[in-house]
Amino acid sequence: MPTTWSRRSFLGRSTLGAAALAGGQLVSFPGAIASNAMLNYGPASGIAKLNANENPYGPSPAAITAMLDATKKGAYYIGDSLTRLKDMIAERNNLTRDHIDLSSGSSGVLTYLALEKLQQGKVLGPDLVWDTTTKSALRHGRGELKRIAKTVDLSVDLDALYDAITPDVSMVQICNPNNPTAIMSDPAALREFCIKASKKCTVLVDEAYNEITDDPEANSMVDLINEGHDVYVAKTFSKIYGMAGLRVGYMMAAPEKIESMMRYGLGNYSMNQAGVAAAVASYNDFDFLNYSKSRIIEARQMINEAARTHGLKPAPSQTSFVFIDLGDLNAETFRQEMAKRSILIRGIYQDYTHWSRVSTGLLPDVERFVNALPEVLDVMGA
Ligand SMILES: Cc1ncc(COP(=O)(O)O)c(C=O)c1O
Repeated sequence: MPTTWSRRSFLGRSTLGAAALAGGQLVSFPGAIASNAMLNYGPASGIAKLNANENPYGPSPAAITAMLDATKKGAYYIGDSLTRLKDMIAERNNLTRDHIDLSSGSSGVLTYLALEKLQQGKVLGPDLVWDTTTKSALRHGRGELKRIAKTVDLSVDLDALYDAITPDVSMVQICNPNNPTAIMSDPAALREFCIKASKKCTVLVDEAYNEITDDPEANSMVDLINEGHDVYVAKTFSKIYGMAGLRVGYMMAAPEKIESMMRYGLGNYSMNQAGVAAAVASYNDFDFLNYSKSRIIEARQMINEAARTHGLKPAPSQTSFVFIDLGDLNAETFRQEMAKRSILIRGIYQDYTHWSRVSTGLLPDVERFVNALPEVLDVMGA
C-alpha cells in the first residue's frame, strides 16, 4: 500500500472496481455495472428527438475545448469563471455584475424568485406558460398561482393580465416568446405592460428563447431594469447556446433585488465549472450562434410548411418549436403515433387537447417528422 497518493496509482486501482477506504485499507467493490458500458448521453440511435427544445448543434466547439481546459487540471470548486461570466453578461446588457445571479440552468433562479415572491402573495400568469419552476416552488406550501383565461389566438392577453393584478398578487410572470405556444408579444405592447404592471407588483419576463427571435435586442425587456422598474429578466444557455445538459442560466434585476432573491439559492455551490467554462467560451461566439439560429429557422419553416400542407394550423412561432392546432385530432394520440415511428414530440398540455408542440431539431430528424405526418394523419382518420 503506497503511503503517498498519486493520481496514476489511484486510477490504476480503480480499474478493479469502485474503491473506498475501510479501516484505513483501500478495498475494492467490483461493481456489476461497468462504468464504460455504452451510455446514451443524447437520444438513442434512430430516435428523432423533437420534444425538449434543445439545440442539437451545440455546445459550440469553443465551449467543448473550454470544458476540457476547465477540468483537466482537476475539478476544483468554481472561482474566477463565475465573475468573468457575470461581467460578460453585464457588459452586453449595460448592467453590473451585481445585477446578475447565475444558477444551474435558469430553472434555479426562476425557482428562487418564485420562492421569494410566493411568500409575499400570488403569482399571476397566462393560463398556458412555462411555469414548472413556479409550481415546484409551490410545493413548499406557500402562495398560490392565479391564471387568466386563454385568448382565442393563444396570445398573451396583456390587458386582462393587467386587470388581474389585485393587491394580493406579488408577481406577474410572462414568458416571451411563450412556451409552449411559441407566440411572441408585440415588444411595444409588452414594454408598456411591464412599466404599468411593475408599479403594482414585480414583473418577471422569462426570455429563454429571446436569441432565436427576429430582433433579440428590440424584443428584450432588459433595459427596463436600468430605468428603475421592478422587472426581472431570466435567460439561459440551454437553448440557442445548445447547453441544456450543462445547466447554466441567469437572472438580471436591480442589485438589491438580486441580493434578496439569492437568499433562496445555493450561490456558487449550485454551479459547475465545466458548464460555466462553456458559457464563457460561447457567450460571444456569434459564428456558432448564427449558424444554430439559421438551422433552427430552417427546421421551423419545414415544420410550418408541412403542417399547413396537411391542413393543420401552426401558431406563429418566433422560437425553436412550433405549437400546432391539430383541429379535431387528439394531441396525445398524435404523440403516440409519432412515437411508434421513433419520433418524439410533446403531447397534451392542460386542456389544450388538440395542440401539439414540435421542437426544431437536426434537419434529418425534422424531415422524418415531415415525412411521417401524412401517414400519421391518415392513421388517425384525418
Ligand atoms: C421558457 C423556459 N424557461 C426556462 C426554462 C428552463 O431551462 P433551463 O433550466 O435549462 O435554463 C425552459 C426550459 O425548457 C423554458 O422553456
